[in-house]
Amino acid sequence: MPELLFEVENVFYSYLGKFPALSGVSLSIAAGEKISIIGANGSGKSTLLQILDGLIFPDQGAVKFLGTELKEKVLNQEEFSRDFRKKIGLVFQNPDVQLFCPTVKEDIVFGPLQLGAGKDEIRRRLEEICEILDIGKCCSWMSPPPGLTL
Ligand SMILES: Nc1ncnc2c1ncn2[C@@H]1O[C@H](COP(=O)(O)OP(=O)(O)OP(=O)(O)O)[C@@H](O)[C@H]1O
Ligand SMILES: [Mg+2]
Repeated sequence: MPELLFEVENVFYSYLGKFPALSGVSLSIAAGEKISIIGANGSGKSTLLQILDGLIFPDQGAVKFLGTELKEKVLNQEEFSRDFRKKIGLVFQNPDVQLFCPTVKEDIVFGPLQLGAGKDEIRRRLEEICEILDIGKCCSWMSPPPGLTL
């Protein structure tokens, strides 16, 4: 039986405590499984994804990741948070929210910086991504991003 990555148990969530977005949602996601969440506009898909990503927390019910309940206190633990953020990524619906740095270079290095990667590793990843996307000329290290001297 494949390992359960996520277990969502009877989750309720309301914005500002008064605009219901999720009412009694339960599901589980096993390792290697691909699932689609389908629903009308405003039915709560993005809200559920934000809960799975530990950005917001259920009013009622529970969400477990590899058996550990995702709560603010748990995500504030550096070791758990770093491991969780390495394994779980969320692409936001609105690209204006996803890409927020003034330059492409800063956007590329933002993730590794937040994950605590070393300077050499950040530089390696930046060069790798620039090569894959063939944007090396735009992302030259001749001008490092402000506040980031590698
Ligand atoms: N920040 C917010 N404040 C108040 N209500 C919100 C907020 N974000 C979402 N909602 C409401 O919560 C409900 C669920 O919204 P959600 O964005 O999760 O739906 P969705 O299924 O992702 O919609 P879409 O298909 O348009 O992306 C909707 O009624 C929406 O208006
Ligand atoms: Mg949405």
